[in-house]
Amino acid sequence: MSTSTRKWLQRYDAPQRINHWTVAITFVLAALSGFALFHPSMYWLAQLFGSGTWARILHPFIGVVMFISFAGLAVRLWRHNRLAAADRQWLRRFRDVAAARHVQLPPVGRYNGGQKLLFWVMVASALLLVVTGFGFWQPYFAPLVPIELMRVAVVLHAFAALVLMLGIMVHIYAAIWVTGTMRAMVRGTVSTAWARRHHPLWYRQLTQGSKE
Ligand code: HEM
Repeated sequence: MSTSTRKWLQRYDAPQRINHWTVAITFVLAALSGFALFHPSMYWLAQLFGSGTWARILHPFIGVVMFISFAGLAVRLWRHNRLAAADRQWLRRFRDVAAARHVQLPPVGRYNGGQKLLFWVMVASALLLVVTGFGFWQPYFAPLVPIELMRVAVVLHAFAALVLMLGIMVHIYAAIWVTGTMRAMVRGTVSTAWARRHHPLWYRQLTQGSKE
């Protein structure tokens, strides 16, 4: 059967999906243990990791696993997330996006302007999280860092975590809001109707073999 007559189109292969869900699971674990350490009102979350001591020990290791797996995903996908003039135009037309007025929007490739922008926000916040996290990781790296720098690292770490969490909230909301998107990351496929409606250039690229 030719790609143009197939009902389902492949969007992610199994290694990409395993990679993505590893990032998602470690993100949730890093966020929960991070909240437990952030403020006494959320210390009870430490019980999920055994105790406060265990939350404290595990949090940076979970963070490193998350960073490495996210780096793997980013290396696989960055080429598709390069922002072009049409994406900036798409972002400026956000009112039409929110109102689902697709006809008014510039045609979208594999990812839309919002997804691409969010991708780079994820990259920047993940990098900032890992660099600042090493800066106050006791007992391994913190002794090498001057106290003033460590204080700045703590604040920037919390800031990067906030940005990433807000970004992921938008990411999850969009994945649920745009019906049929979750299937892409669960089963690896999307319907031809979904691809034509939300990513027409990508659809054309798959069915006619044209470049994005
Ligand atoms: C926790 C719940 C999460 C859910 C339900 C979820 C869901 C999804 C779905 C459905 C897609 C496919 C979108 C499409 O192909 O159009 C996707 C893609 C993606 N997700 Fe997630 N995700 C989650 C967490 C995360 C986290 C924590 C990260 C990174 C920190 C992440 C990074 C990505 C990236 C990089 C893509 C590819 C999109 C692109 O390259 O622009 N996701 N996600």
